[in-house]
Amino acid sequence: MESRLLVTGGAGFIGSNFVHHWCKTHPNHQVVVLDALTYAGNKETLADLQDRENFRFVQGDICDRSLVDSLLKEEDIDTVAHLAAESHVDRSILGPSAFVQTNVVGTFTLLEAFKNHYPSVGQNANRRCIFLHVSTDEVYGSLGPEDPAFTETTPYAPNSPYSASKAGSDHLARAYYHTYGVPTIITNCSNNYGPYHFPEKLIPLMCINMLLGKQLPVYGDGQNIRDWLYVIDHCQALDTIIHKGKPGETYNIGGNNEVKNIDLVKILCKIMDSLGSDLPVQPCEKLITFVKDRPGHDRRYAIDATKINNELGWQPSVTIEEGLCQTVEWYLNNRNWWEPLLSEEYQTYYRKVYSNS
Ligand code: NAD
Ligand code: TYD
Repeated sequence: MESRLLVTGGAGFIGSNFVHHWCKTHPNHQVVVLDALTYAGNKETLADLQDRENFRFVQGDICDRSLVDSLLKEEDIDTVAHLAAESHVDRSILGPSAFVQTNVVGTFTLLEAFKNHYPSVGQNANRRCIFLHVSTDEVYGSLGPEDPAFTETTPYAPNSPYSASKAGSDHLARAYYHTYGVPTIITNCSNNYGPYHFPEKLIPLMCINMLLGKQLPVYGDGQNIRDWLYVIDHCQALDTIIHKGKPGETYNIGGNNEVKNIDLVKILCKIMDSLGSDLPVQPCEKLITFVKDRPGHDRRYAIDATKINNELGWQPSVTIEEGLCQTVEWYLNNRNWWEPLLSEEYQTYYRKVYSNS
């Protein structure tokens, strides 16, 4: 059965990778992207899809209930992949209000609209309806060095305005299944990396700063640990869950790749040294600078992805070595994608976060 998919946040990092993945693997399915094109959204990323008959891009806000209602109805949507969000921890520290608005109120708006809409979907055709709520491992809080990895039953303990707002949205998605029977599925994923990642996040920031000969700012002592997953593997997991996941369930998604920030930055430096030519500063490690720590900086995240592996047969396919090489190569070859993103707004943001270091 061909599904009719609404992807929110489809012009962002994971959303755009997911839309490309879906259009390639399900070429006959209808895909509608709803994205507000905030600073993090980039329509150019979807330019190659614009002429497809079964692709539509709509610029709009997930908090706009009448727009969401009319899109669900007009497009006869049976599946929502909800990826629209304010997603950067440092921005949530500077200005939490947009996080509560988009992540909590926006998710609530989508859930309300889908609750009203989905019972009327293909009443005679027995179509599968799913609201996939894409979330983060950060809702589980911070782990100590010896703690076991997060499972689907780890209690929530969010520490940043970003993770608190995501936790709130997860609770709403859960409640809409339990109270109203809306077929929601929640995913909590570890840190993603890969193409089309906005420059403010660790890996693209380091790649771009190496190409520009700028300092590589490592927060605190650089010993914080993240669990890294190549974005295409995440997209494959979301696809698997849309097709085989059970409504009402949560699935943790992770790459089983725990790396300390400082080690990750050093690996990126080595890859850039070997792939880049005419770099402004070499070896790139010379650019590493320890800077003031992020307030409330979570020490360690780690995902236990046993459930999705055992129940749905998903596991990551790209090793961290391959994924990081492909990512560095992508930033080397796609200056025309990232250069325009280093806007005045971005420079102002950058100064606010890094100038007191
Ligand atoms: P992103 O910031 O790159 O993209 C977010 C997209 O949402 C942008 O295109 C933006 O324009 C859009 N958007 C923001 N507010 C909107 C609104 N009110 N209405 C409509 N569109 C709006 O984020 P990302 O890294 O692609 O993350 C996508 C989702 O995955 C988020 O829910 C995030 O919490 C989750 N997640 C991200 C990671 C990661 O490592 N990046 C890991 C786990 C989970
Ligand atoms: P980030 O990419 O912002 O993801 P998250 O905070 O959601 O995990 O940061 C990843 C890690 O890298 C995190 O521990 C903070 C750290 N970091 C730096 O050390 N320097 C930087 O300039 C940035 C952006 C992040």
